[in-house]
Amino acid sequence: MSDEKDPTLLEPRALPNFVETDSIRDMTQRALTYLAVGFPVHLRGAAGTGKTTLAMHIAAQLERPVVLIHGDDELTGSDLVGAEHGYYARRVVDNYIHSVHKSEEEVSPRWVDNRLTVAARLGYTLVYDEFSRSRPETNNVLLAVLQERLLDLQATGSGTNYVKVDPGFKAIFTSNPVDHAGVHRSQDALLDRMVTIDLGHFDVETETAITEARAQIGHAEAARIVALVNGLRDSQVGDVAPTVRSSIKVGRAVRLRGASVTASDAAFRQICQDVLVSGSIRDGVGPAEALRAVVDRLVNEHCPDGTHAAAEITSIAAERRDQGTRGRPRVVEREGAA
Ligand SMILES: Nc1ncnc2c1ncn2[C@@H]1O[C@H](COP(=O)(O)OP(=O)(O)OP(=O)(O)O)[C@@H](O)[C@H]1O
Ligand SMILES: [Mg+2]
Repeated sequence: MSDEKDPTLLEPRALPNFVETDSIRDMTQRALTYLAVGFPVHLRGAAGTGKTTLAMHIAAQLERPVVLIHGDDELTGSDLVGAEHGYYARRVVDNYIHSVHKSEEEVSPRWVDNRLTVAARLGYTLVYDEFSRSRPETNNVLLAVLQERLLDLQATGSGTNYVKVDPGFKAIFTSNPVDHAGVHRSQDALLDRMVTIDLGHFDVETETAITEARAQIGHAEAARIVALVNGLRDSQVGDVAPTVRSSIKVGRAVRLRGASVTASDAAFRQICQDVLVSGSIRDGVGPAEALRAVVDRLVNEHCPDGTHAAAEITSIAAERRDQGTRGRPRVVEREGAA
């Protein structure tokens, strides 16, 4: 047997720098409970609410190989279950009586399992990310997998009609709400077979911890950035609410530039404008002026100079500038992180 790893499979490993706060621990536990009693879990929420990261974290807790599928409008049933690729040819030459030469050739199509079939057959964990981007008819095959625990291969022309789903098979789905571009409305029958957990934006404690870990900045700096991003989200100016990704972007740029998270730092103010203004306008046409004014006001409000925290933040920035912008990375370790 070859030692080569199957490229279809991912190791069930926790993500590096995964942040586990009470709310994330609680959601993980709830999901694991439903999976343990036999229901697939569906994490639904707007962009940047942590669905994919949480799905992979939950999958890692199950300690089985993970099969990952990304939903896509172009995906077909055979992309999920498999298809015939090429042929097996078998040739028998019979020359038992030397004066008689008989040869027989048999050619049969060669079936190759795709990801859903691999997971169902072998009892692995399926993470189907953004499943509602695939057309509903593509996902029909899942109805019997989740209910009757049977995978029907007949429609795709396999020699075998059914695959019995292994008892170890578990499925975690993620999706964006239907009003997102490129998302199909899922069949009620499919949703009825899952337990759906709706995710909102992170609480402030969690968003701060994620920004700190992902941008490798200090807690006080992350808290200020998150407060201003939350302020912009609550202001409802702009077409797109900024997510934790905006906090991480600002944090990383601040770190690289050696900027101080204070209102008097021109580089910091510029980063906030760059990341937060255009990012909140969907099609390039929108309330840019109003957004610029809101971002300026929020920077003044949440990142004042002259306080104890500001002095501390300024000295961190100065120290970073002294070390050069590529100063030693700080590893944020927390309970539960890989
Ligand atoms: N628990 C966590 N620990 C550390 N980082 C996290 C955590 N949750 C989310 N993140 C980070 O937050 C960002 C958004 O998370 P994620 O990609 O999982 O969101 P999503 O809901 O899947 O977004 P989308 O709908 O756009 O795919 C990513 O940069 C991710 O690394
Ligand atoms: Mg995602």
